[in-house]
Order: sequence, then C-alpha cells, then structure tokens
Amino acid sequence: MRWLRWPRVEAILAACLVVVTVLPLTLRGAPPGCPAAPEPDPPSTWPPELPSAPGPRAAPCEANLSAAALPGFEVLPAGLRALLLRGHCRAFPLRLDPPPRKCAPPPFLLLAIKSAPAHLGRRQQVRVTWGLERLVAGLPLRRVFLLGSDPEPARAPRLDRLLQLEAREHGDILQWDFHDTFLNLTLKQVLFLDWLGEHCPGVSFVFAHTDNMVAFLGDRHPDSHLFTSHLIQGVGPVRALGSKYFVPEVVAGRGSVPPYCGGGGLLASRATLGALRRAAGALRLFPIDDVFLGLCLQRAGLRPSAHPGVRTAGLPRALAHDPCAHCGLLLVHRVLPWETWLLWDTLHRPGLRCGRRERGG
Ligand SMILES: *[C@@H]1O[C@H](CO)[C@@H](O)[C@H](O)[C@H]1NC(C)=O
Ligand SMILES: *[C@@H]1O[C@H](CO)[C@@H](O)[C@H](O)[C@H]1NC(C)=O
Repeated sequence: MRWLRWPRVEAILAACLVVVTVLPLTLRGAPPGCPAAPEPDPPSTWPPELPSAPGPRAAPCEANLSAAALPGFEVLPAGLRALLLRGHCRAFPLRLDPPPRKCAPPPFLLLAIKSAPAHLGRRQQVRVTWGLERLVAGLPLRRVFLLGSDPEPARAPRLDRLLQLEAREHGDILQWDFHDTFLNLTLKQVLFLDWLGEHCPGVSFVFAHTDNMVAFLGDRHPDSHLFTSHLIQGVGPVRALGSKYFVPEVVAGRGSVPPYCGGGGLLASRATLGALRRAAGALRLFPIDDVFLGLCLQRAGLRPSAHPGVRTAGLPRALAHDPCAHCGLLLVHRVLPWETWLLWDTLHRPGLRCGRRERGG
C-alpha cells in the first residue's frame, strides 16, 4: 500500500496494539463467559499457539554464489546483496489464501492492495470505504490485501496471528512466506500475478474513488490491453548510493528505464495481467516493483498510458478537503485514514452537488 501515504498511521497503530495487549490483563475480574481463574496463570506468550500450522516452509533455494564475486558486491546495501544472491528464488508458499468465493464468480474489479503486516489501521479503513466489497453499477467489486511476513523476528509471530484473525474475519488476506520489505515488493508483485493467473483467471480488471474506476472501465473490454495510472517516463535508474531507490549497474545492467506507471496504484486488464505474468517469468527481478512492471510491459511489446485522475502526490492543500475536487478522480494519495472516511461518506451523500452536476443517490 505504498500508494496511500498516511504518515501518522503508525502512531494510531501503536495505540491499538497497546489496547489489545493490555485488555486481557485488565479483565482479570472474570468477565461474563470467562471462568474465574483461581490463580493468575504464569506469564504466557501472547498470542496463544496458532490453531493451525502456517503452511509448508519455503523449499530451500540455493544462493547464487557467483553473484558475490561481482565488483562492488561487498559495499552494496544488504537488501540488494540478498536480491543478487536469491533473486532467482521465486517459489514462496502461500500461508493465507482468500476463500474461493473471492473469484467465483469472477469479480469485475479486484482491488489488490499491497499492505505490510503492521498496517492494520490502514487495512481497516480501506475495508469500510473504497475497498468495501459491493456492487458498483451492478458489477461486483472484491478486495484482497497482499502481504508477506514481518521481517522483525520479535513481532512476526504476533503479526502472523493478527493476519490469521483478519483472514477469518474478512477473508481478504493473501499472505506468502517471504519477508515483507521494500526490496521484496517486486517479488510480491510476481507472486500476485502468478496467484491471479492460477486462482482468479476470470477477473476482468485489477487494482484501486472505486466507483469512478468502474465507470471508467465500463465500456472497455477485459481482453484488450489496459495499463494506466500516473505515467513516468524519461527517468533513469537511481545510481545514488543511499537513496531508497538506488539500483546499481551490477543489479540491473546499464539499460535505461522504460516508461512505467508509478507504484501508487494502477488499473490493468485481464489481458495485460496475463502478458505481464508471462514476461515476469522471463525477467530478472528488478528491485523497484513499479519499474519492474514497466520492464515487463516493454518485453511484452505494450505501453502504459497516463490517467489524469491519478494523483499520487495528493491534491493541492486548498482542495484536499473539497469533496467536489475528488469527483472525477480515480486515486489520490496523502489522505489520512480519518479524512478518507469523511470524504468517502460525503461523496456518497445523495444531496451532494458539485458545480452544476448533481450526484443522484
Ligand atoms: C548468478 O549471478 C550471476 C552474476 O550476477 C548472473 O550472471 C547469473 O545469471 C546468475 N544466475 C542465476 C541462476 O540467477
Ligand atoms: C525477501 O524475502 C526473502 C524470504 O523471506 C528473504 O530471505 C530476503 O532477505 C528478502 N529480501 C529482501 C531484500 O528483504
């Protein structure tokens, strides 16, 4: 969910976790339904044992040791070294899979939202606003969150357990057994394309005002090419060590970067996703996920297109709270969770009038 930058959400999340972990301690006085414990139990781990094993472990995949001999390997950041050594490892088992009804019958629009395990607050907010599973103009919209496992060993088991709860409650979790880090987002992308091809081949359009997306997609055919968002072109790979987007030549070669759509979210058709999946299988992983999709498109002989309704840099401040400024947009960044909910509600009020246009309820 790189495309929804809510800087303050971490604070909210921390508060939620504290509430959850403190609650069992403050309820010692036997709430209704709980047997009165004669003696407090010795401190136990929280959460309790998982009810089901988290699925098979990843098959061992040998490191490509010849990569370690590349010039400059030693001084690369750890994540890029890992990519060179194990970038060919792509078989990561699924730990949590949404129920089959997610894709049967195939939805018209599948929102596939990259999320990190700790970002529960963001997921909850998406679930009750633009990601709400519903019919839009009679067409079904469904939602999945794409996740790996938390890279922090100390908290990973708890976050895995959280995802299990979310999966049970909402049926919208797709989790693989790999470390959910920035440089593994390309891996997430590739695994998702594979999952989609296998489990959801009938979907018409994938990815994130969702009502407007449905309207935009309405007269397009899922078997024709569509890949649209905020178009970026003429930007080379970042060669500055220390940048989050640093990609040295040893990793990606000397080539320039083809036109691509910024990772803030995009719309793609079934046909294009199939072509991307095939191309991804033949390419080395490029560390930046949105650029990687651009490389896949290039290989498939397809071009991305620009859509003016995608505002990954947010709206100008003066317009940020104006619902009418959002009427024609597909996707906006830099909206806080609480702002999103208010905007979503306002946009769906039957009486909302924008300019001379009137939105029916
Ligand atoms: C191993 O690394 C070398 C050097 O980066 C590369 O040329 C080769 O294609 C890699 N092999 C595999 C299987 O990825
Ligand atoms: C990607 O995930 C794998 C599997 O969990 C892990 O070994 C590797 O270090 C991760 N790569 C990066 C760059 O974080």
